[in-house]
Amino acid sequence: MDWPKGVDGLAYGGDYNPEQWPEEIWDDDVHLMREAGVNLVSVGVFSWSRLEPREGEYDFDWLDRVLDKLHTGGVGVNLATPTASPPPWFTLAHPDALNTRPDGVRQVHGSRDTYDVCAPAYQEASLRIAGKLAERYAEHPALAMWHVHNEYGSATYSAHAERAFRIWLQEKYETIEALNDAWWGSFWSQHYGEWDQILAPRATQYLSNPAHELDFKRFTSDAMLEHYKSQRDVLRAANPEIPITTNFVFGQWVPVDPWQWASEVDLVAFDSYPSAPDERAEQQSALHADLSRSWAGGGDWILMEQAAATIHSKDGAVAKAPGRMARHSMIHISRGSKGAMFFQWRAGRGGAEQWHSALLPHAGKHTRMFAEVAAFGNTLPGIAHTVEAPVKTDVAILWSPESWWASSGPHLPAPVDYLENVAQIHRVLRDRGVVVDFVAPEGDLSRYTTVIAPSTYVLSEAAAENLRWFTAGGGRLVASYLTGAVDEHCQVWLDGFLGGLTDLFGIRVTEHLPQPSGELRALWNFGAAERFCELVELRGAQCVTQYATGDVIENQPAVTVNPFGEGEAWYVSCKLVDEAWDRLFEELKLDGPGTRGVDVVDRGPWRFVVNHTEKEAQVGNVIVPAGSWAVNKR
Ligand code: GAL
Repeated sequence: MDWPKGVDGLAYGGDYNPEQWPEEIWDDDVHLMREAGVNLVSVGVFSWSRLEPREGEYDFDWLDRVLDKLHTGGVGVNLATPTASPPPWFTLAHPDALNTRPDGVRQVHGSRDTYDVCAPAYQEASLRIAGKLAERYAEHPALAMWHVHNEYGSATYSAHAERAFRIWLQEKYETIEALNDAWWGSFWSQHYGEWDQILAPRATQYLSNPAHELDFKRFTSDAMLEHYKSQRDVLRAANPEIPITTNFVFGQWVPVDPWQWASEVDLVAFDSYPSAPDERAEQQSALHADLSRSWAGGGDWILMEQAAATIHSKDGAVAKAPGRMARHSMIHISRGSKGAMFFQWRAGRGGAEQWHSALLPHAGKHTRMFAEVAAFGNTLPGIAHTVEAPVKTDVAILWSPESWWASSGPHLPAPVDYLENVAQIHRVLRDRGVVVDFVAPEGDLSRYTTVIAPSTYVLSEAAAENLRWFTAGGGRLVASYLTGAVDEHCQVWLDGFLGGLTDLFGIRVTEHLPQPSGELRALWNFGAAERFCELVELRGAQCVTQYATGDVIENQPAVTVNPFGEGEAWYVSCKLVDEAWDRLFEELKLDGPGTRGVDVVDRGPWRFVVNHTEKEAQVGNVIVPAGSWAVNKR
């Protein structure tokens, strides 16, 4: 029960909002969906005010008709609970259920995500509407899957959150003294005498306490997960045969730990919105896909949303060139997604996202875009038989949401871009043709021969032991600067950092030496480092290369390797530029059949090739025209 019921092969479709349109066009929608090869649509994602126009008064008639029409047309329904956007009547009746920003300002309705997951009134109302939907639709033949909420991620710093946070802290620390110790409470007079003195980490005068901030993120992830689980359990009870998910979203602002969440959903669903118009869009798509597959841990996962015609960057949207929508979809499908879904089916006439692209543009069916959408959709059944073969790799990158959260704090020795450090390893390996998995610091490393741990700033004792065990057993570990700088309470690991793993790496890190921005520090025969360097003392490891320049670091070890048990532990004491990582991966003989701009994923007998370049690509016996893709027998 981990796949939309009744959807065979690959899923194709997107968010469908018929309630925004006159009923006359619904038949046309279903007809065009069939023409485009659409077999699954997400319905009701933000429909609360139309489903419950007044408290306790429900209007399901329109949704009945929509589901019936979709079913008759052969389109499955991924039915959402609408809790990501409570109706105006709700927030007016329960202003305390609106979310509060870190600066203490309580938001007002008028957009979306205006809710406080910790507010009892919101929790009750969410369960009520989820229960009504379950009661009415759990046995509907169109129902293929439940889509709980939308993109959990909006944190709240309200009084409700504060109360729940204190309970969470009491469960975790048991005594206030243990909390004070963990949070290093004697600094700046932050020693707490009572639980009630603890606040959410709202805006304060200057730097806040990093351990407090990190615990609040963990708490928020747990609080949102509780909200998800409470709805899931209601839906599950109504019909255990229907898979249930929620769509994960990606961003530093999202305090959700996907490793924990993944085991609570029947299949992982991910919304992929690359943020740059150039080749980084393909890099980010591949990164999103590999993360999603890894969170799913061998189970099914699906690309739940992407934009059909545009890429949204800071400067606004940029049109996707012809074929790019299909290539992005194929990046995901080749890396394991069981479909390609979009936001949204029909472009809206009004509302804040009226200019967001869609499968069916404002100009209708006779458009270049719809032709492309239909052509791709009708191709997918032809490759459905290939996607049961698993994506297998023996190389993994450690993915630590806590390191991401904690190392983005403003108090670090120099700014650290954890995501970029991870993305950099992923992109250099992808350019070398290597498909990677991601793995949690405390996750199962036994499937891998090489594990790369970029700047895993937060390292718990359990995670450190995991890395030790992996290496001792014959694994090759590559870690980079700031690894294990702090423990799970954001307290510095003493006597050489490295999460206490100085014996594993055969070194001590004795100082952090941030370098001026924009100045490169050459490494002997190894490219260069930028911004962040560390001073390393050898304690048995061999020096692979040294810094050629730089105060204090000149001629000091930059990259080291230490045999440990049956394996070896490499340490990169700086932020390398891409070419230097490439050089290191050359040394480690990490390469695969793909090349820069040509994604190749081998799965069982099948070879998926996605050619993003302007030239024809040949990989083995597979020839792929410029800007196109293919799946063939190897
Ligand atoms: C997603 C969201 C959709 C839509 C889309 C636009 O984050 O789930 O509802 O807003 O972004 O890109």
